[in-house]
Amino acid sequence: PASTLPLPEDDLSIGGVALTELADRFGTPAYVLDEDEVRRRCRTYLRAFPDADVYYAAKAFLCRAMAHWVAEEGLGLDVCSAGELELAVTTGFPPERIVLHGNAKSPADLRAALRLGVGRIVIDSTSEIARLAAAVPADSRQKVLIRVVPGIAAGGHAKIRTGTDDQKFGLSLTDGSAQHAITRVLGQPRLELVGLHCHLGSQITAVKPYLSAVRRLVGLLARVREQHGVTLPELDLGGGHGVAYLPGEPALDVVGLATKVRAELAGSCAAAGLPVPRLAVEPGRAIAGPSGVVLYRVLSVKRTGSHTFVAVDGGMSDNPRPALYGVRYAPRLVGRRSAVPTEPVTVVGRHCEAGDILASDVHLPGDVRPGDLLAVPVAGAYHLSMASGYNLVGRPPVVAVTSGHARLLVRRESLADIQERDIGL
Ligand code: LLP
Repeated sequence: PASTLPLPEDDLSIGGVALTELADRFGTPAYVLDEDEVRRRCRTYLRAFPDADVYYAAKAFLCRAMAHWVAEEGLGLDVCSAGELELAVTTGFPPERIVLHGNAKSPADLRAALRLGVGRIVIDSTSEIARLAAAVPADSRQKVLIRVVPGIAAGGHAKIRTGTDDQKFGLSLTDGSAQHAITRVLGQPRLELVGLHCHLGSQITAVKPYLSAVRRLVGLLARVREQHGVTLPELDLGGGHGVAYLPGEPALDVVGLATKVRAELAGSCAAAGLPVPRLAVEPGRAIAGPSGVVLYRVLSVKRTGSHTFVAVDGGMSDNPRPALYGVRYAPRLVGRRSAVPTEPVTVVGRHCEAGDILASDVHLPGDVRPGDLLAVPVAGAYHLSMASGYNLVGRPPVVAVTSGHARLLVRRESLADIQERDIGL
């Protein structure tokens, strides 16, 4: 399903709680997360990939409760900063089930990873190898993977494509830098190379690119064995599994992906005479995205000659995705019945910028007016995690709902919070 919101009623609810009630109790804007849906999606992955490691990609959305749910469901965690790592570990996430990523890991990121004992670190550049090896204590070995750029174009938008050589992540298969890095890592006694990683991009809805990635990486595994006599036991295919933002849009079929990837992996390995490596995947959006909704209050409605602008109390600071990637959402009027036909409107935010558009050319009842509540489905991933402090409006709270109950997970950023950090003259 595109979202956890039932279609198309005036009185929408999530997790058994009416959206109007949530808005009244927690204010707007507010992110609402359906805990049961998050857990269901985690289980779908574990069932689809029974012999694999499923790492939830924390960059999509992370708070203490989310880390706890994901840990409880038995997934691992993909982090890309000391911030994500510390939040998860201090919430009790088992560090050995965490993988650290990053094209530019800071000394603090690496120190935190080694101190807390993360299971795996993914090497993203040649210069990182010696730096990491030097930071590992003399009596220990850190498990690492090498992130390979397989030369495959996939993904929803140029800014989120990472499978080809024209972007900053990983080590190229085509120019030989992946092979070079493998040799270097194998020569480092404090690093234990356990496998290869690749991440093609994000919001991918086709299975084929993943199958191509499997073939290319198995090819590299075979060359590693030929050249170095080493059989690497792990293959991490990253995340990128696309979801539907609009009714009727395609989403990646996780079960179909799993079946085909496992078949391809078995076939390619058999052909190369290799044992089948342990598979890993790193879904972020597909777990968090459709589990969340964001609620806004309409503050003004302005009709110009050509447009109707419906302005809400949030905007590009809580959801930069339309402005960044030009992506589309389907906002819905909540809590009020309207007999008036719908008309095309542009839903805009409250920020001092004309590009602060949340949804263009969407249909809302023609009598939409200030005070109305709007809900935007599929807001669980890359909303709060990409929220900014623009115009000092404060970040929205996160509310969890489960079986008819709501509770606050992350409180609203208050104006006092904002002022407190500013030390002054
Ligand atoms: N693994 C790695 C190494 C990644 O870089 C990412 C996402 C993931 C897993 C999870 O990808 P997912 O399954 O969520 O697609 N801000 C953009 C998305 C950026 C994704 C960055 N990396 C957006 O809002 O669309």
